[in-house]
Amino acid sequence: MSEFCRRDYLYTFIHAKTKGEIQMSDFFRKKSLTQLLTDPETGEHKLKRTLGAANLIFLGIGAIIGAGLFVRTAAAAANNAGPSVTLGFIVAGIGCALAGLCYAEFASMIPVAGSAYTYSYATLGELVAWIIGWDLILEYALGAATVSIAWSEYLNKLLGYFGTGIPYEWNHSPFEVSAMGVHGIMNIPALFIILMLSLLLIKGTQESAFVNGLIVVSKVAIVILFIIFGWGFINPANHHPYIPAQSVYIDTQHVPHNFGGLTGILGAAGVVFFAFIGFDAVSTAAQEAKDPKKDMPVGILGSLAVCTVLYILFAYVLTGVASTEDFRHAGREASVTYAIQTYMHGFGWLAKLVTVAILAGFSSVILVMLLGQSRVFYSMSKDGLIPRIFSDLHPTYKTPYKSNLILFVFVGLFAAFVPGDIVGDMTSIGTLFAFILVCAGIIIMRRKAPEIPRSFKTPFVPVVPILGIIVCLAMIYGLGLPNWIRLGVWLIIGMFIYFGYSIKHSKLAGKKPLNKL
Ligand code: ALA
Repeated sequence: MSEFCRRDYLYTFIHAKTKGEIQMSDFFRKKSLTQLLTDPETGEHKLKRTLGAANLIFLGIGAIIGAGLFVRTAAAAANNAGPSVTLGFIVAGIGCALAGLCYAEFASMIPVAGSAYTYSYATLGELVAWIIGWDLILEYALGAATVSIAWSEYLNKLLGYFGTGIPYEWNHSPFEVSAMGVHGIMNIPALFIILMLSLLLIKGTQESAFVNGLIVVSKVAIVILFIIFGWGFINPANHHPYIPAQSVYIDTQHVPHNFGGLTGILGAAGVVFFAFIGFDAVSTAAQEAKDPKKDMPVGILGSLAVCTVLYILFAYVLTGVASTEDFRHAGREASVTYAIQTYMHGFGWLAKLVTVAILAGFSSVILVMLLGQSRVFYSMSKDGLIPRIFSDLHPTYKTPYKSNLILFVFVGLFAAFVPGDIVGDMTSIGTLFAFILVCAGIIIMRRKAPEIPRSFKTPFVPVVPILGIIVCLAMIYGLGLPNWIRLGVWLIIGMFIYFGYSIKHSKLAGKKPLNKL
């Protein structure tokens, strides 16, 4: 930490500036597009164009449905919006659709496998790329931690079927206390699943298309089955009032939340936004799409539309079967299984099916997130923005094993010692911030580089990106002060690392900035 001690740091920075080592133009230096397209790691020739719109929709749904729906929905109902969590899903879906259209333009402009980090490095320059890359850690690494905590809740349900279970203190963070006054110590199952999947990634086992397909089908199937069978068990009293009056709800862990009214709906939107994270996976497959111009928007908007409809119906049924009070107390964890077991008599088989499918589904989401994070780290390390250790490959498995191990420690610490609500909301706010940068990036790129060919163009620029920014900002607003502070602190740490390390070690350091792509 002393390396980044404020005074030394400022001294180095000012000293470097006066010596002319760091210049404004450094912040805007860009990776060359030609280099990106010919790079064997990212290059266009690597992948075949085989995916049609239907495949892209499938891919999107597979990456999207997870803990956001099966865990965060109940949390948003309990803490923010009651039954009007459904309206939160609509707001979040609209925000994602607007940002998704911007993602699609970036993806089609730079048709290489990659993420917002890669796109922005080639177009908006190093500083913005750094901020996005740093921010994506919140999306992928903390996202993985959130899903692992949710996994732990459902594992406990599964063990319950066998008459056993993990004691409260060993599957909760030290910041949580049970209704009986038991304090959490660490979340061992969450740590365990992160370890297992990190080892799998190190070995380089890719999920087979078949297993992935099976998981996607079972995830969608349980959502549909729950909607169909649960519909008959909706208790209308649970839906009244649909939008609760505005108030402050202090949860069982003594954390205050804005509940009810418009603020409650925006807060719920910010929380359940987590359920949509992953749709950008579709945009990263741009180079594999048969006809990106047509298939990308259909893939992105199609998977979002399917998920939004399923989510709204699912949330409507869930908040109708069990009450907001349930989600605040007995049904706080593994809420879906709880609702079925408690209120849907005769559907014990569904509760078991849901639990097993959720455990498998969560594992695949965690795997995708850990993989996404190690890919971003790999690119950043190759670019010199983070140390080389993050791109060292295993001699046999050819995977970035050191990066995977460091990531395991980082994600594992959050999974074991931080409550799911906190990591979940940090994931949401970090991703929302990245979306805002992507939307703004489209407006900037249309002005600065209108000549770059784009096989897909965001419609109605600047209206769509501006609306995207507004809706994402509204959700950030809804997530409240503690989360704004967490995001701010995270970005400040990122700036210290950038100015203390990355700007000097960047592969582009000392090169003339590229003004045109
Ligand atoms: N959207 C993914 C989930 O809900 C991240 O788990």
